[in-house]
Amino acid sequence: MAGSAFLFLNLAVLAASMEFQQVFILSRHNIRAPLAEDLQRTTTLQWPEWNVPATYLTEKGIAVEEKMGEYFSQWLKNEGLFTDGCPNADEVYIYSNNKQRTIKTANAFSRSAFKNCNVSTHYQNNDHLDLIFAPILKNTTESFKEDWITHMQAKINNLYYLKDAYAILHRIVDIENSDLCKQKILCDFITKDVVVYTIGEEPNIKGPLAVGNSIVDFFLMSYYDGMPMENVAWGKLTQEEDWEKLLQITRENQNVRFNHSYLSKDISRPMLKFMRDEILKTPAPKFTMLVGHDSNLNSVMAALEFDEYSLTGQLEKTPVGGKIVFQKWRDIDSNLYLKIEYVYYSMEQLRHGTKLDSPLSATLQIKNCNVNQDGFCPWSDFVKVLSSLY
Ligand SMILES: *[C@@H]1O[C@H](CO)[C@@H](O)[C@H](O)[C@H]1NC(C)=O
Ligand SMILES: *[C@@H]1O[C@H](CO)[C@@H](O)[C@H](O)[C@H]1NC(C)=O
Ligand SMILES: *[C@@H]1O[C@H](CO)[C@@H](O)[C@H](O)[C@H]1NC(C)=O
Repeated sequence: MAGSAFLFLNLAVLAASMEFQQVFILSRHNIRAPLAEDLQRTTTLQWPEWNVPATYLTEKGIAVEEKMGEYFSQWLKNEGLFTDGCPNADEVYIYSNNKQRTIKTANAFSRSAFKNCNVSTHYQNNDHLDLIFAPILKNTTESFKEDWITHMQAKINNLYYLKDAYAILHRIVDIENSDLCKQKILCDFITKDVVVYTIGEEPNIKGPLAVGNSIVDFFLMSYYDGMPMENVAWGKLTQEEDWEKLLQITRENQNVRFNHSYLSKDISRPMLKFMRDEILKTPAPKFTMLVGHDSNLNSVMAALEFDEYSLTGQLEKTPVGGKIVFQKWRDIDSNLYLKIEYVYYSMEQLRHGTKLDSPLSATLQIKNCNVNQDGFCPWSDFVKVLSSLY
C-alpha cells in the first residue's frame, strides 16, 4: 500500500512539474458523404441518398468536430498552454486542405476550441491541388517507379486473409448482377488489384480492394452519420464481426498505398517539411493544426516510422475527426520532451453522438524516440528524426 501511495505521489509531482510548451496536431476531416459517385454500378440495390453532395462534411460531422474543439479548449487550459482569454494572433495557426470537408472541419474546430476569439483558419483559396496535402507521386526515375510498384504489388499479393471480408461484401452487394460485371470490369472479389502508377497522382490501385474500399467507406459513413440501420448496407450488417472484417478492406487500401517507410517520405515530403519548419521555428506558434486526410496521416506516420498501435473502440486505424497530437513538454531541469497521443472518438461515440465530451486517446511512439513509462521521449531525438528526412 505504502509503495503505491508513494508512486502515486511521484507521478503527481512529475505531472505538476512539467510545463506544456507547444502542440502540433495532424487531423483528419470529420464525418463526410462518401467519396465515390459511381457506386450504383456495383449493385442492383438502390443506394441511400445523402443530404449533402458527395465528399462534403455532413451536419453531424460539423457538430462532432465542434465537440472535439470544446474538449481541446478545456484541455489546453487545464494543461496551461492557454489561459481563459483569447490567444494572440501569432500563437495559433490552423491550416487545412482546400476541400470543403477539410475547410469546414477546421472552421468547426477553430470556433469551438477558441470560442468567440475569431481565430481565422487558412487554406489555399483556389481549386488547385495544395501540394502540402497532396500525397502524390513526384519522383520520375524508373528505379523509383519499379521499387514502388514492387512494394505495392507484394502487399496486394499477401492479402489472402481478406477473403472472408470479400465474401461478406459479395453477399451484400451481389456484384455478379451489377453493371460493373455486365461491363466486364469486375464480377468478383477474387481477382487481384493492379497498381496504377501515374506521376502527379496518388499511388493507386484498380480492382476489388479499390471497389471494396469505396463500398465499405459508404457503409461506414452512413453508420457514423446516423442513418437508420436498415439503410446501412440495406440492413445486412448486423454482426460486429462482419464490421471487423469489412474494415480490414479500408485499412489495407491505405496500407497498400501509403504505408512504406522510405517511399512514403517521397510522397509526404511537402507536409513533413511544413511540420518540421513549423515545429522547429523560433518562436513557434503554441498551437498548430493541419486538417487533411487519412492518406496524410498514414504517409506521415509511415515516414516517421511510428510503432504499431491500436485504438480501443475503433476498427478504423485513422478514424474521422481523429488527431495525432505532438506535444512539447519541459521539466524543471529544462529538459525537453515529446509526447504523442492519438485523440479520437470510438465507433459508438460517432454513431450515437454521445459522450463526445470525452474523446478517447492512445499514446503513440516513433521508432527512434523511445518513450519512458509516462509516454515521454527526448525532444532532441524527435528533432533528429525530423531533420533526417532531408
Ligand atoms: C474576424 O477576423 C476576420 C479576418 O481576420 C475579420 O475580417 C473579421 O472582421 C473578424 N470578425 C470579428 C467579429 O471580429
Ligand atoms: C528518386 O528516386 C531515386 C531512386 O530511389 C533516388 O535516388 C532519387 O534521389 C529520387 N529523387 C528525388 C528528387 O527525390
Ligand atoms: C504499416 O506497415 C507496418 C510495417 O510493414 C505494419 O507493421 C503496420 O501494421 C502497417 N500499418 C497499417 C495501418 O496497416
